[in-house]
Amino acid sequence: MSSTKKNWPKLPLGIRLLIAAHSMSVDAFSRNDGSAVNRRLMNLFDPKASPSRKPDNGVVSSDIVVDTTRKLWFRLYSNTTTAGKMFVPIVVYFHGGGFAYMAANSMSYDDLCKRLAREIPAVVVSVNYRLSPEHRYPSQYEDGFDVLKFIDNPDFEGFSAFGNTDTSSSKAFFIAGDSAGGNLAHHVALKACQHQFSRLKLRGVIALQPFFGGEERTESELKLAGAPLISVKRTDWMWKAFLPHGYNRDHQVVLILYKIGRENMWRD
Ligand SMILES: *[C@@H]1O[C@H](CO)[C@@H](O)[C@H](O)[C@H]1NC(C)=O
Repeated sequence: MSSTKKNWPKLPLGIRLLIAAHSMSVDAFSRNDGSAVNRRLMNLFDPKASPSRKPDNGVVSSDIVVDTTRKLWFRLYSNTTTAGKMFVPIVVYFHGGGFAYMAANSMSYDDLCKRLAREIPAVVVSVNYRLSPEHRYPSQYEDGFDVLKFIDNPDFEGFSAFGNTDTSSSKAFFIAGDSAGGNLAHHVALKACQHQFSRLKLRGVIALQPFFGGEERTESELKLAGAPLISVKRTDWMWKAFLPHGYNRDHQVVLILYKIGRENMWRD
C-alpha cells in the first residue's frame, strides 16, 4: 500500500479535509451490501440550487419535467448573449456520482453547467436521471434516452422559448458527462446512433473520466486502491448498487471501452 501512496496527487489541506468529510458521509450513509443510501442525510452534504430565470452572468436556466411518475426532469441552460442570434448546438449533460449520488440541481453541477453555457456556444440540457440502488440498471440509461426523445419531439418548444437556436429543423447535439455520467453518455450515445430522430443529429460524445471497470482490476484501480474519495471499495459498492441482483462487474455496461464491441450495446 505505502508504495502506491506516493502516486497520489498532492492536494491542499482544505481539499483533503473536504474529501475526508465527504468520504466519511458516503460510507456512513450507504449500506455495505449496496442495498440502500440514506437520502435524507446524504442531502445535507449535497446542497441544491434553484433554476434562475434572471440571468446569472448571462445564463438563464429552467427545469422541464419529462415524466412525473418517475420524477424525470432536466435543467435547461442558455446564454442570453447568444440566444436567438446564432446557431448553437445542444449539449446533453449527465452528472457524475457513481449512479447513486448527486443530481442535476446539485450546486456543483448547476455551477458546472452554467459555466459550460457561459463559455461554450451551446444550450445545455442537464439530465436528472433516477439513482441507484432505488433504481438499478437500466433505469439511468432509459431516463437519458427518454430525455433525448423528449427534446427531439417537435412539440417541445423549450429551445425556442429560450430564444435558441438554429432556424433549420435539424438540431446538432453532443452527449457529455463525467464519471458515471461519462459511462451514461457513452451508452446513451450508442443507442442514439441506432435511433431515427426527427430533428436531433448526434455529433459527438464527450466522456470525462468515464466510469468503467470489470471484475479484473484496471490499471488505475490498482494504482489508486486506497485513494481518498474514489477508492476501489467505494467504486465496487457503486457497481453493486447499480447492477441488477445476480450480476457482477463483467456486465457489458461496466467493461472498459476497449473490451466491448459496438454490438455489445445496452438494449431495452
Ligand atoms: C455568454 O454570456 C456572457 C455574459 O453575457 C458572455 O460574456 C459570453 O461571451 C457568452 N458566451 C458565449 C459562448 O457566447
